[in-house]
Amino acid sequence: MSHKRFVIAIDGPAGAGKSTVAMLVAKALGFLYVDTGAMYRALTLKAIQLKLDLNDRNALIDMSRNTRIELIQNENHYRVFLDGLEVTKAIRSELVSKNSHFIASIPEVREILWSIQRSYREKYDIVMEGRDIGTIVFPDAQLKIYLDASVEERAKRRYLQLKQQGIETNIEDLKKEIILRDERDKNRNIAPLRKHPDAITIDTTYLTIEQEVSMIVHLYKQTTEKNKK
Ligand code: DC
Repeated sequence: MSHKRFVIAIDGPAGAGKSTVAMLVAKALGFLYVDTGAMYRALTLKAIQLKLDLNDRNALIDMSRNTRIELIQNENHYRVFLDGLEVTKAIRSELVSKNSHFIASIPEVREILWSIQRSYREKYDIVMEGRDIGTIVFPDAQLKIYLDASVEERAKRRYLQLKQQGIETNIEDLKKEIILRDERDKNRNIAPLRKHPDAITIDTTYLTIEQEVSMIVHLYKQTTEKNKK
């Protein structure tokens, strides 16, 4: 039997609904929720604010070594702090989304973030979501999920999300953006998005959030039962 803290690793492409589901699963089980994308986004925001050249790897590595990122969770709030200042909303801008692949493709930067991500397990059971959680950060995670959805569905969800915020876009443009993001995530040299062979794929195209959450909670219970035997 493993005495290690329990890790539910949730990977998958952008827009598959990982954040919402991971957060609700963490809440249901009393686990810590860790959104690793927020860390890549926070570093990207800082680089933009500092007007760094996003192709200058050394400058980005240097900046990352001198940055403090904190993910703070209480009851119903999840907040992100960058060098002590709250950036929860700022990291969600389109500018940050479009440019975060620069930071995400630098091995030295990923090393820094991996060690922060792994440190959470020293104290907590966690639900961690990203692109490389089951493959690289925690290949020994007790439960690995690969959350997927069709490009059409992901574009539709994004469209509705933006519309709610009063932003008009069109689905075709969003589809193109999603395809580009998938290509970047899947084809980069370091830590590309891959499904770990042990990961259970959940295609969320036709599922409600409640169904996804209850599937993962059920899988968790099955896993802990199996481990007891
Ligand atoms: O999931 P997201 O859209 O918030 O991710 C932001 C960026 O970070 C995106 O470029 C993918 C990248 N990312 C990554 O490379 N590895 C992770 N574990 C999480 C996110």
